[in-house]
Amino acid sequence: MIVVTDPDRGFQAHIGKFLPSAGDRHEVATTAELEHALAMASDTPAVVVFGPNVPLDDALQTAGWLQDRGSAVSTLLVTTGLSAEVLQAAMRAGVRDVLPDSFSGDQLQEALARSRDLAHRMAGTTADPAETSKSKIVTVFSTKGGSGKSVVATNLAMLLAQTTGEPVVLVDLDLQSGDLAIMLQLMPAWTIYDAAENRDRLDGDALAGYLTPHRSGISLLAAPLEPALAETIGGETVQEILRLLADRFPYVIVDGPGQFTDQVIAALDVSHETVLMASLDVPSVKNLKLALQTFGQLGIGRERIHIVLNRADSKVGLRLQEVEKSLGTQVDVAIPSSREVPLSINQGAPLATEGKRSEVVASIQKLADRIRIPSHRERKTRGRRAMLGRN
Ligand SMILES: Nc1ncnc2c1ncn2[C@@H]1O[C@H](COP(=O)(O)OP(=O)(O)O)[C@@H](O)[C@H]1O
Ligand SMILES: [Mg+2]
Repeated sequence: MIVVTDPDRGFQAHIGKFLPSAGDRHEVATTAELEHALAMASDTPAVVVFGPNVPLDDALQTAGWLQDRGSAVSTLLVTTGLSAEVLQAAMRAGVRDVLPDSFSGDQLQEALARSRDLAHRMAGTTADPAETSKSKIVTVFSTKGGSGKSVVATNLAMLLAQTTGEPVVLVDLDLQSGDLAIMLQLMPAWTIYDAAENRDRLDGDALAGYLTPHRSGISLLAAPLEPALAETIGGETVQEILRLLADRFPYVIVDGPGQFTDQVIAALDVSHETVLMASLDVPSVKNLKLALQTFGQLGIGRERIHIVLNRADSKVGLRLQEVEKSLGTQVDVAIPSSREVPLSINQGAPLATEGKRSEVVASIQKLADRIRIPSHRERKTRGRRAMLGRN
């Protein structure tokens, strides 16, 4: 729920242009009306925006009161006089974010997303990033090369495009040795290096120009053509690129390198979900355990990780159950070993392109189903089922 507090109809209309027209937005004129609206809504996590026409003292006092009450309300202040004093006073009152009244739509969206997340956390329910934003950034990662990341990332991207009909972009973040262009038989004119080089002028349109389209309908942001260029791309630039892509593409699939680089840590930080690859060998299981620990330190909880065991049927002495026991957690998706995989790579045509329903494709489809953003209707039925205790 968003409550915009401001007596000026002009401001309400202005901010309304940037907000979802959904029914959970309320407009109130004064802080007294605000308190009433919040009391009526009881414990729903809420974001309160104080507009520039609410007297500052009044806004800060109410924000402080909301903070003391410990309610699941996160506050945002829009002000005409953005100064160090105002910022400090706002912070003391527990205001989550302060925006100038000349805010852009993007600034507002970002501040709202953060505030919503906080409000949900205060309510004890973590906000599902897929609910707050309409797109998903998913990074496929393992601390080992050759574990099948690129196979999974490409086929996942294609299956998501096929089953949702939505645009999907694949980002090759294996900056040193990325081979997605080769796997897709593409000759990129531009790569992520060019995007990073032009960082200052980067916006959605400019970035779209650096993508290489694939006949399957997905787009690729290719890795640099020379490995040496990888080092010049900073983590913040990677995050900016991913955010810009997420503005346009409902699904941004990132194919990671085989180790924790600065760039992939930056990507993981803005990813809604992560696919972590495992295989049936003792070093891989040990590495996976370490990776899960590192993810914990990065604040990425288990609920945002999909553990995928590749070549799950290999007869190599280690069994799925043993891997799960050693990891202390379940494997979410198991992909069998198949000769079709290297064949498809050599032919430059990922398995999912041909529409053939092999076991490998079926298992990656399971992963795609876990990642697919449920439609509004699906979400509603799910919510109802959960309330009735069914699933
Ligand atoms: N399920 C599988 N069955 C058979 N071969 C596989 C399977 N998954 C991956 N491979 C092979 O393993 C190799 C490495 O896969 P790749 O996706 O490039 O790994 P990564 O991106 O993690 O380095 C490729 O040659 C691919 O053909
Ligand atoms: Mg790879």
